[in-house]
Amino acid sequence: MMLLESSLHPAKMAMSNILGMFLFMEMLASGFRFGVDGLSMDYYFMSCPFAEQIVKNTVARALQADPTLAAGLVRMHFHDCFIEGCDGSILIDSTKDNTAEKDSPANLSLRGYEVIDDAKEELENQCPGIVSCADILAMAARDAVFWTGGPVYDIPKGRKDGRRSKIEDTINLPFPTFNASELIRQFGQHGFSAQEMVALSGAHTLGVARCASFKNRLNGGDPSVDSEFAKTMSKTCSGGDNAEQPFDPTRNTFDNFYYNALQRKSGLLFSDQTLFTSPRTRAIVNGYAFNQAMFFFDFQQAMLKMSMLDVKEGSKGEVRESCRKIN
Ligand code: HEM
Repeated sequence: MMLLESSLHPAKMAMSNILGMFLFMEMLASGFRFGVDGLSMDYYFMSCPFAEQIVKNTVARALQADPTLAAGLVRMHFHDCFIEGCDGSILIDSTKDNTAEKDSPANLSLRGYEVIDDAKEELENQCPGIVSCADILAMAARDAVFWTGGPVYDIPKGRKDGRRSKIEDTINLPFPTFNASELIRQFGQHGFSAQEMVALSGAHTLGVARCASFKNRLNGGDPSVDSEFAKTMSKTCSGGDNAEQPFDPTRNTFDNFYYNALQRKSGLLFSDQTLFTSPRTRAIVNGYAFNQAMFFFDFQQAMLKMSMLDVKEGSKGEVRESCRKIN
């Protein structure tokens, strides 16, 4: 070692020190952490290097078999993050002593739990006790967006799983009857601007709503509905409360058609159409309807922000063995 060092030219040594310092700074900037709890892009780099790939493959397999699950995963992540933070609390099953979030009326139509279970099972085989359910859900939602044609984005990992999941907490999810001011206020409580709220609502480019969520708008209940579209809604509802209608004409493709539908007064939920009706948000809707790239950019930024809501780090949470129950 001594020999090697003494044989190095002093200028070369200085150079290698500088390079080493740059490398160290680069590692810090890119999110490496040493023994410190916290989120980082490469949180699983050492402990479970294939975590991202395992989730991505599981999501791809599931969506190949059933593309409609993409919507389920994105919505599940949102409902997880808005209640108790992104801590996988939505995944917990009820027990005889506790009715969990997932059994709230607002969550009964959530879909895709088995995709998270499958990813978790494979991750537990590869690196037991390492990858949290909250991280799996955040990655799965991200992958679902990309898989359906939406923007690609990276998210930091290191969320811990929560130990609380109570039905009563779900009262804090937004109602489909909310107007723009109520939506702005509620999303504002989580730190989102009106623009970010409108961008996140663009997730309704995927999936469906059941008649039960919009039937109050029929029969003259809401003048903001286009009359032809109202007929389509009525036809759907003739199939009963659980009959489904897509939010936009391309339910499995992530695009900006949702905003175009709002411009045509063909938003499915009152909380969708209000974004165009209200002067507080109409210009944002028009902007996203006109420019899909701008929507994609704002959506990925807002999703990244949402994925970090009230995250539990270190000993404030755990890594569940099964996503359905606390350890
Ligand atoms: C702005 C306030 C929001 C309200 C009031 C709302 C409400 C709803 C309602 C009522 C449904 C239909 C449920 C049913 O009838 O079964 C739905 C579906 C959905 N929501 Fe939202 N939502 C909001 C924001 C969001 C956000 C921020 C996301 C994700 C980032 C999201 C993602 C979805 C998706 C993807 C579906 C379709 C689910 C499926 O097809 O399984 N929503 N939402």
